[in-house]
Amino acid sequence: MCGIVGIVGTQPVAGRLVDALKRLEYRGYDSAGVATIDNGSMDRRRAEGKLFNLEQKLSEHPLPGTTGIAHTRWATHGVPNETNAHPHFVDGVAVVHNGIIENFSEIRDELVAEGATFTSQTDTEVVAQLLAKYTREGFSHRDAMLRMLNRITGAYALVVMFADDPDTLMGALFGPPLAIGWGKGEMFIGSDAIALAPFTNEISYLVDGDCAILHRDGAEIIDHAGREVERPRQITQAAAFLVDKGNHRHFMEKEIHEQPEVISHALSHYVDFTSNKVIAQPGIDFSEVRSLAISACGTAYLAGLTGKYWFERYARLPVEIDVASEFRYREMPLSPDQAALFISQSGETADTLASLRYCKAEGLKIGAVVNVRESTIARESDAVFPILAGPEIGVASTKAFTCQLAVLAALSIAAGRARGTVSEAEEIALVRSLIEMPRIMNRVLNTVQPQIENLSRELSRYKDVLYLGRGTSYPLALEGALKLKEISYIHAEGYAAGELKHGPIALIDENMPVIVIAPHDRFFEKTVSNMQEVAARGGKIIFITDEKGAAASRLETLATIVLPTVDEIITPMVFALPIQLLAYHTAVFMGTDVDQPRNLAKSVTVE
Ligand code: F6R
Repeated sequence: MCGIVGIVGTQPVAGRLVDALKRLEYRGYDSAGVATIDNGSMDRRRAEGKLFNLEQKLSEHPLPGTTGIAHTRWATHGVPNETNAHPHFVDGVAVVHNGIIENFSEIRDELVAEGATFTSQTDTEVVAQLLAKYTREGFSHRDAMLRMLNRITGAYALVVMFADDPDTLMGALFGPPLAIGWGKGEMFIGSDAIALAPFTNEISYLVDGDCAILHRDGAEIIDHAGREVERPRQITQAAAFLVDKGNHRHFMEKEIHEQPEVISHALSHYVDFTSNKVIAQPGIDFSEVRSLAISACGTAYLAGLTGKYWFERYARLPVEIDVASEFRYREMPLSPDQAALFISQSGETADTLASLRYCKAEGLKIGAVVNVRESTIARESDAVFPILAGPEIGVASTKAFTCQLAVLAALSIAAGRARGTVSEAEEIALVRSLIEMPRIMNRVLNTVQPQIENLSRELSRYKDVLYLGRGTSYPLALEGALKLKEISYIHAEGYAAGELKHGPIALIDENMPVIVIAPHDRFFEKTVSNMQEVAARGGKIIFITDEKGAAASRLETLATIVLPTVDEIITPMVFALPIQLLAYHTAVFMGTDVDQPRNLAKSVTVE
């Protein structure tokens, strides 16, 4: 989940490489580095921590040179310090790497036995060591690269530079993504089209097993046996968007507040605002599907879990849902009359991609609910359902989550129509509710903020928090707990409210606030009973409900957040807002790094 980039150019590259790293920082931000070749000598600057530290080093000690590579790291092997930061240098070879070299310890032992000295604890250094060894043995750079690629196993995207050849960069991949950018008299290579967007909009996506050799005037792409392969050039839609917080303190805050607008944009792709009907989507005919398998990770998985309730309720379509890291290995029996849906903001998550490939091999129709339309998951799917959330920079997912929900809701109605389980009148009523949603979300954002800010102050005093919900509020309870723990570092757990008695009730005391998410829906009374059980044991309740729910409940709470009463299909999106704001303000109050919380990365391209 590191970000890598390289330029073989005509102008000084260090500044441009750092600009590209800024656009890749979402992939990791433990440490960063840049290396260039100038007058036949290779030099680098590396710094622990955020890119700012690297920029400072470069301003004190600039790096000249028109060819260079750079890296922003999310540590896998070796602590995040300067020694382990990339690029790694060995005898005139420089390497940046995203992924994991699985057989690195075996190669390392072998090379050490031959007399090699390793200077870092990373798996990546074996790549530089192997290339240096093969070059010393007399192999050309190209042959050294192919020998090295045939020796390593695992997941990797690599960019390599040789001090004695300032006119060439080499890249290779197996697993994590890598794209080439075609410039005028210069060539670019990087983890994604967004990183390359300021330089060029003409991109070729490399595929697993490719090795690209870049010169200023173009690129040759070969496979591991050295055979030439063609990869189409395409004009990318990855706009050179401004990575800008606007008037907000954090990207996460900006992205929370963007939700009404982006959801409206997303909906316009799936529903007709005039007829109040769903717009048919090509790719998967839900009327012919026996069941649906959904697989995703983290917040995207929780969107999928909500989708399960909708597909089963509206389309009467049985859904199997699993976290992708389990799904990919659990050898689920599948058949071609099933369809599979993969949900991913980045479209690059390694476990989700592996699950997709498993289902594809079993002959299932594949649908992708993605934000990045040019991602690997989108490119390998039969049907792409874009969530149109725009770039999400905050590591904690907010607007991608609610856009995923909006798309899944619309798809479940469309599936219901196709399967004859949703009548035309029901379709119109459901779509009307979806169309109302952005306006309601706007209202909620404009009203609940001050109360939530005050409450966050209180919440930040606790070490543990429990979230409870039933029906589609259950995935939301899980999402609330995930959001709070990932950015405030407060321990939080989400439970189905009905599970309270089966274990977690033992935790309840005055030190454990319980956040109950309960719109006035079919489950309301049952959830209120669970709240009573909490109150009876001295638990402090933060009640997130709607106007009807607030009027119906007589329980004493630490706080009650009252939202408008809305149709059931849109409660998950509307109730997501206080959940997100509560986590955000608690984290701000505690002074954590909200946009780049510790140990996390935006795009998880390793297992
Ligand atoms: C949590 C979060 C993660 C991601 C997960 C999947 O706020 O952002 O849990 O949802 O890593 O990422 P994508 O959606 O890119 O596959």
